[in-house]
Amino acid sequence: MLLLSQFLKQQETDDNLIDLIGTLMLACKEVAIQLREGALAGVLGSTEDTNVQGETQKKMDVIANDLLKKFLLDNPLVAGLASEEEDLPVAGNPDGRYLVTFDPLDGSSNIDINVSVGTIFSILELPEGMSGADEAAYLQAGRKQIAAGYVLYGQSAVLSLTTGKGVNFFTLAHTGDFLLTRDNIEIPADTNEFAINMSNQRHWEPEMQSYIDELLLGVEGNRGKNFNMRWIASMVAEVHRVLTRGGIFAYPWDKRDESKPGKLRLMYEGNPMSFLIEQAGGLSTTCYGNIMDIEPQKIHQRVAVALGSKNEVETAMEFHRDSADSKAARLNR
Ligand code: AHG
Ligand code: MN
Ligand code: MN
Repeated sequence: MLLLSQFLKQQETDDNLIDLIGTLMLACKEVAIQLREGALAGVLGSTEDTNVQGETQKKMDVIANDLLKKFLLDNPLVAGLASEEEDLPVAGNPDGRYLVTFDPLDGSSNIDINVSVGTIFSILELPEGMSGADEAAYLQAGRKQIAAGYVLYGQSAVLSLTTGKGVNFFTLAHTGDFLLTRDNIEIPADTNEFAINMSNQRHWEPEMQSYIDELLLGVEGNRGKNFNMRWIASMVAEVHRVLTRGGIFAYPWDKRDESKPGKLRLMYEGNPMSFLIEQAGGLSTTCYGNIMDIEPQKIHQRVAVALGSKNEVETAMEFHRDSADSKAARLNR
């Protein structure tokens, strides 16, 4: 079985990028160890603090953030980082080449119930003449990502990675190595599985309500087939399922807070997951346009997301076609 570094060399990945991905995996291994120890390590439960998004921080949100920050800032290739759990970008080596954005612990409501969580990351080049302390340096469309991935902490820890040459899975072995366990992931174009938080149904736009209504009608509706539903409340786990066996995952805009374009964050969740999904032959959209085409305005910006099996995501987009002109601008903000 191939080691992660051997595989990346075979793909003719830049040595610096291999080095940086190695650093990220050192941090993720430490996160995996903390999570495995759980209550024994005293890492369960919440802190007294809230993050810049106004969400209560779990102890593991802070621990994972500190670990990623420590490892990344020790690597001279890192010019700076932006994290869901940091108010502002953090500068690294002024001569560094890369910017890393990350969600240190995704699905953190699952930590205390021993259900899957993950770490999501995205790697960008530092634009010429800019510093890792400048927010503007990070405001690059998803198309500019040079690598993205996540580590899912489930029964096993699995890295799902793309450097723009397809998507591959690597499993963390007891030796501490990530080994290639599935290559060239391809998402089936059709599916009968959807994932959405149904408790928000009344808050969605009518377009999304109509689309989901048809799925729920199953063989008795226009779709003529039954759909099954999943909701793990961890985007990493949902995307891993979609990459593994297909499906559609959506966290659409809803009117609970009309000022926000969505719940999920463009730089830490939307873009890296979209890169993986597109590299595996799927589609990732706001329902009005591709997520990776959005020109970000702020590092903590939110985005509406529908991603997964190509034909199913296109069907969801069909429901939004008539209102696209009037609504796209709001959701792409
Ligand atoms: P985070 O834990 O990083 O804040 O992200 C949680 C996200 C995402 O992973 C998940 O799909 C969604 O929020 C769950 O939201 P609900 O609690 O509304 O189900
Ligand atoms: Mn998250
Ligand atoms: Mn998080």
